[in-house]
Amino acid sequence: MALMLGIESSCDETAAAVVENGKKVLSNAVSSQMAKHSVYGGVVPELAAREHLTAIEKVCAEALDSAGVTMKDIDAVAVTHAPGLIPALLVGLNFAKGLAAANQKPLIGINHFIAHMYGAFVDSEEAVFEDPNLYPMAALVVSGGHTSIVIIDSDGKSRVAGATIDDAAGEALDKGAKLLNLGYPGGPVIEKLAKGGDPAAFHFPRSLTGTAGKAVAPEHRFNFSFSGVKTALLYHASNHSEDGSAASLEGQFLTDTLASYQEAVVDVLCSKVFDAAKHYHAKTVLLCGGVACNSALRERFMKDVPQGMRAIIAPKKYCTDNAAMVAGLAYHYYNAGTFCDLSLDTFARLPHVTEVPFKGIRS
Ligand code: KG4
Ligand code: ZN
Repeated sequence: MALMLGIESSCDETAAAVVENGKKVLSNAVSSQMAKHSVYGGVVPELAAREHLTAIEKVCAEALDSAGVTMKDIDAVAVTHAPGLIPALLVGLNFAKGLAAANQKPLIGINHFIAHMYGAFVDSEEAVFEDPNLYPMAALVVSGGHTSIVIIDSDGKSRVAGATIDDAAGEALDKGAKLLNLGYPGGPVIEKLAKGGDPAAFHFPRSLTGTAGKAVAPEHRFNFSFSGVKTALLYHASNHSEDGSAASLEGQFLTDTLASYQEAVVDVLCSKVFDAAKHYHAKTVLLCGGVACNSALRERFMKDVPQGMRAIIAPKKYCTDNAAMVAGLAYHYYNAGTFCDLSLDTFARLPHVTEVPFKGIRS
C-alpha cells in the first residue's frame, strides 16, 4: 500500500488530498479563493499567492486529519509545479519541499495538465488509467488555462493533436461573463443563467470549424480559437442594449444569449474532439478540466460520442482544481521511482505532453 499526499496551488484553489494506491481518495480538502478574485473579474496572481500562504498549512492538516493519518504514514509528497501562475505555484511547491524534507519523504513534481486527465481515473471503479483496452484515447482537457486534445497510446506515448491558438474555452466563458458584468468565474455563472434559454436563438461563430463557409487550414483541423466568439458576444450585446453597453442585457434576451453562447463553445469542443478521435482511431474519448463541469457539455459529449467509442467524463468534483488528481497521479511516479530533488522549479508553461506515466505500475 502506498499513500500519497498531494498539494495543488496552481491557480485559485488551495488543495490537499491523501490517496491510497492511486485510486482510493481518503481525503480531498479544497479551499477556494474565488470570492477574493471575483471583485477583479479574474485571478490576480499576487493575491492568489497570499491566499495560498494563509490557507496551505490548514488545508494540508485537514487532508491528513480527515484521512486519519499523519505524515509518518505518508509515502511521498506530490505537488503541482507547472503549468500555472508562478507566484501561486511557488507557495505549494515550497511548502511541499519543506514538508518532504522535514519528514524525510520523497518529493514528486506533478504536471497539472496530466493531473487533470487523471481526475477521470482517481476515484473510478470502472476506468483504470493503464488499462490497455482504453487506448488509443483522445482526451479533451478543457479549463481556464487549457483547451487541448491529447492522443494517448497504450504505451503511454502521447501527443497534442490540437490546442487553442488564443483563449482557452474557460477563458472565453470567464471573459464573456465579465463583459456582460455577470461575475466570476464565468463558466458556472453562464451555465446557471443560461438555463431555460434557447441555444438556437442566436448564432455565434464556431471558429476553425469550417462552418462559416471558410475552409479550415489542415494545421488547424484540431486547433481551437475562442477569441472571435467573445468579440461576437461583445457586439451582439452592445448592439442589442438600449444604452449601447454590453453589460445591460436582461430577462429572456440575456438567457437566450447565454444559452446560445454556451452552445457555440460546446459545439466546437465536441465536434473537434470527436473528429480527432475518429482520425486517430481512438477507442476512448475523455473529457476533463474545469469546463467539463458544464452540464450542457457533459450531456452533448455523452450523446454525440461516435459509435463504438467509450466516453469517460471526470466526476465534477475532480474537474475543477483539486489535489486528489495530484495525489492519484503521483502513485504512478512513486512506483516508477521517479522522484525530484529540492531544486524542483515552477513553470508557467511546459512543452506539450509526450508521455503519461503508465510504466510505473507494477503488475
Ligand atoms: O480546471 P480549473 O479549475 O482551473 C484551471 O486549471 O484553469 O478550471 C477553471 C475553469 C474556469 O474558466 C471556469 O469558468 C470553468 O473552469 N468552469 C466552468 C464550470 N465550472 C468551472 N465552465 C463551464 N461550466 C461550469 N459549470
Ligand atoms: Zn486546472
